[in-house]
Amino acid sequence: MKHSHSFTLCLFFLTLFLLVQARHHSHRKHRHSHSHKSNKTSLPQPPPPAPRDDDNGYYNNNASGIFDVRAFGAVGDGIEDDTEAFKTAWDTACQNESQVVNVILVPRGFSFVVQSTIFTGPCQGDLVFKVDGTVMPPDGPESWPKNTGKRQWLVFYRINGMSLEGSGLIDGRGQKWWDLPCKPHKGSNGTALGPCDSPIAIRFFMSSNLTVQGLKVKNSPQFHFRFDGCNNVHIDSIYITAPKLSPNTDGIHLENVNDVKIYNSVISNGDDCVSIGSGSYDVDIKNITCGPSHGISIGSLGNHNSKACVSNITVRDSIIKMSDNGVRIKTWQGGSGTVSGVTFNNINMISVRNPIIIDQFYCLTKDCINKTSAVFVSNILYTNIKGTYDIKSPPMHFGCSDSVPCTNITLSEIELLPSQGDIVNDPFCWNAYGDLETLTIPPVSCLLEGIPQSLLDYDVGHC
Ligand SMILES: *[C@@H]1O[C@H](CO)[C@@H](O)[C@H](O)[C@H]1NC(C)=O
Ligand SMILES: *[C@@H]1O[C@H](CO)[C@@H](O)[C@H](O)[C@H]1NC(C)=O
Ligand SMILES: *[C@@H]1O[C@H](CO)[C@@H](O)[C@H](O)[C@H]1NC(C)=O
Ligand SMILES: *[C@@H]1O[C@H](CO)[C@@H](O)[C@H](O)[C@H]1NC(C)=O
Ligand SMILES: *[C@@H]1O[C@H](CO)[C@@H](O)[C@H](O)[C@H]1NC(C)=O
Ligand SMILES: *[C@@H]1O[C@H](CO)[C@@H](O)[C@H](O)[C@H]1NC(C)=O
Ligand SMILES: *[C@@H]1O[C@H](CO)[C@@H](O)[C@H](O)[C@H]1NC(C)=O
Ligand SMILES: *[C@@H]1O[C@H](CO)[C@@H](O)[C@H](O)[C@H]1NC(C)=O
Ligand SMILES: *[C@@H]1O[C@H](CO)[C@@H](O)[C@H](O)[C@H]1NC(C)=O
Repeated sequence: MKHSHSFTLCLFFLTLFLLVQARHHSHRKHRHSHSHKSNKTSLPQPPPPAPRDDDNGYYNNNASGIFDVRAFGAVGDGIEDDTEAFKTAWDTACQNESQVVNVILVPRGFSFVVQSTIFTGPCQGDLVFKVDGTVMPPDGPESWPKNTGKRQWLVFYRINGMSLEGSGLIDGRGQKWWDLPCKPHKGSNGTALGPCDSPIAIRFFMSSNLTVQGLKVKNSPQFHFRFDGCNNVHIDSIYITAPKLSPNTDGIHLENVNDVKIYNSVISNGDDCVSIGSGSYDVDIKNITCGPSHGISIGSLGNHNSKACVSNITVRDSIIKMSDNGVRIKTWQGGSGTVSGVTFNNINMISVRNPIIIDQFYCLTKDCINKTSAVFVSNILYTNIKGTYDIKSPPMHFGCSDSVPCTNITLSEIELLPSQGDIVNDPFCWNAYGDLETLTIPPVSCLLEGIPQSLLDYDVGHC
């Protein structure tokens, strides 16, 4: 968190700059330009003949600022490199000062190959990046340009006011990256077996007022989405898929974000559907269908003795199926900070291995040592969590660190049954304090009552 100060400062100047901008562009909410009666033409060159299957109204519409990547030279045959055309379309739309919302259009019926690119703002107005066709990176590490970093593919940086939307597909072509010998599921024991960096498909960095909706994203080499240093993010109706055994393919990863809504989306992959990292607060997750996957996670937090602060997170009205975990909080030994104010409400578990889990001994190898500091976990509410668990492990697991217990864990209306047979595994608690608001199935008798003495002695959780 040592960057947080300069980050705040940056945001401050960014906001200042955008406020000034906002005076010039007071109203730009006319996303659906059919109704917009401006007769300005927007393209720097006339677009090539329009495909006839156009039911989105954008392409043929002379009235709004439409920047079709093909008008900038993109070919879209799935082979040709269209990177420059995308960059030029972006820059032109981004710099355009017209009063309409400018739309960068990736038309349907075409496949565009785009290399690792940073789409940079701030822009003059709100932008829509409308993907109706397919966008893909070069296929695998061998085809990746030699002089380009391999940690990210499509990056949106310093944007205020943008919607990434459309009926198209972003295809990360992850297979060759997952097959690298260094990847965990290839049996690597953590020793170096060649380069392992793999790109995040879509990253939003230091941006605000973002919408992502309607898209399909599949087979990212690494995380599908990562938002870091962003605020006011609304994700709706997206579909993310990757195989169950694809390593590190988290659906949506958040870090240093606030005011984030993730709604009505379907995610299945080889890692967490949603992972919430340090510096995240005011996050609302609703109506997600998750799985097969590793569930919805807060963490991992506190790695390398770092300080982590996460608060006011809600996950509700969701389904988690055939997953290693349901709702999870995971922290490393040795961290500091707090996870607090988390609500998991109305979640249907279907054959999930650890439906409810707090793991403060998170460790990817076998040799993490226990430390005396830990991220403090407190004020966690689990309510109306029902369904079935895979009997390999207990349906509820609260493994809190020795020196910093978890406190104020509340359980209400929990009903978890074995998905097969009638073996009931006892819930597991270690140094976990909390209460039952209602009886639970299976019964929980291992939560400790009251306030732990050690907390009074220990300087926990400053955030
Ligand atoms: C985001 O949008 C809101 C309202 O639409 C506006 O008040 C706010 O200033 C915007 N954020 C930034 C950083 O400009
Ligand atoms: C814009 O349209 C109006 C009528 O809708 C017309 O009077 C005007 O000449 C048009 N302007 C241009 C630049 O085409
Ligand atoms: C911005 O778009 C408008 C039409 O929307 C166009 O008339 C104008 O030339 C464009 N400006 C630039 C700088 O491209
Ligand atoms: C767009 O404008 C051009 C030139 O003014 C015109 O020929 C064309 O028919 C217009 N297209 C539509 C869909 O209105
Ligand atoms: C890890 O694997 C490598 C090669 O497979 C082997 O040489 C090495 O001894 C292993 N290390 C450990 C700690 O098992
Ligand atoms: C939940 O999300 C799914 C998938 O996007 C959608 O079909 C469904 O309508 C949503 N349900 C509600 C109540 O919004
Ligand atoms: C918690 O986050 C929600 C948005 O998810 C927000 O509406 C609410 O005001 C926040 N609560 C607090 C106490 O900040
Ligand atoms: C760490 O502490 C936990 C709980 O006391 C214990 O079960 C575990 O064996 C310890 N791990 C190591 C590596 O000492
Ligand atoms: C316990 O946590 C709940 C949220 O789950 C919160 O509303 C309540 O204030 C907390 N109680 C204390 C004593 O902090």
